[in-house]
Amino acid sequence: MTNRNDESRFLNEYAKVRVDYSGQTLDEADLLSHPLGQFQAWYAEVVDLGIPEPNAMVLSTSTTSGAVSARHVLLKEVDRRGFIFFSNYQSDKARDIQQNPSVALTFSWIAIFRQVLISGVCEKLSDIESATYFKTRPRGAQIAAHASEQSEVLLSRTELEERYVELEREFEGSEIPKPEHWGGYLVIPRSIEFWSGRSSRLHDRLRFISLNPQPDLSKAQDWRIERKSP
Ligand SMILES: Cc1cc2nc3c(=O)[nH]c(=O)nc-3n(C[C@H](O)[C@H](O)[C@H](O)COP(=O)(O)O)c2cc1C
Repeated sequence: MTNRNDESRFLNEYAKVRVDYSGQTLDEADLLSHPLGQFQAWYAEVVDLGIPEPNAMVLSTSTTSGAVSARHVLLKEVDRRGFIFFSNYQSDKARDIQQNPSVALTFSWIAIFRQVLISGVCEKLSDIESATYFKTRPRGAQIAAHASEQSEVLLSRTELEERYVELEREFEGSEIPKPEHWGGYLVIPRSIEFWSGRSSRLHDRLRFISLNPQPDLSKAQDWRIERKSP
């Protein structure tokens, strides 16, 4: 049996990974005056570096009874209102959001020792905006949005594939409409933290905090900035 107080327990393959982070300095003087600009500047760097799936973010949700879930989704737009992703309105995440619209988003750009942490409130995007985005999706993804009852239990993969093939036939030669149960979500941030990993765990953390329930991400006056201890 392992002795819980034996230090050698922590000389294992997990604990021995010890990287001294060498991220760039993040000074108040370098920070752009509004979070939209700052996010776009960091995002452009991540794209230039060729980091895979730069727009992947972890969406954390919870039920009213406090059960928490997290999963990746893809950022499809960020504008003055907030951060936009698309999903199934009958999924587990949708059920959570309906119960409790408070959510968190996490961008993990570990390759350059950065993360962005967003805490905010989630609401459905308008049907028009969702339909506009749906039109831009590849046909296969459009059919999949119809075929998948996201988060439901499947008896087999065949069940899903058969539904897909059936729908492919049904929609042959015609434009595929956006399913009712599918669309976008807008996360309106309450706070946005820019985190840069620094040597000896003395990381930089600068956080924009909204001064307005419907802040404009491109207006400096809607935000105050604070430095957090690492
Ligand atoms: C990199 C990555 C990106 C993803 N993007 C999306 C997305 O944009 N929308 C989505 O509904 N699911 C996306 N998924 C799948 C989700 O992580 C998740 O499995 C699905 O949404 C069901 O979640 P739920 O059952 O908690 O509602 C993505 C998964 C990965 C790994």
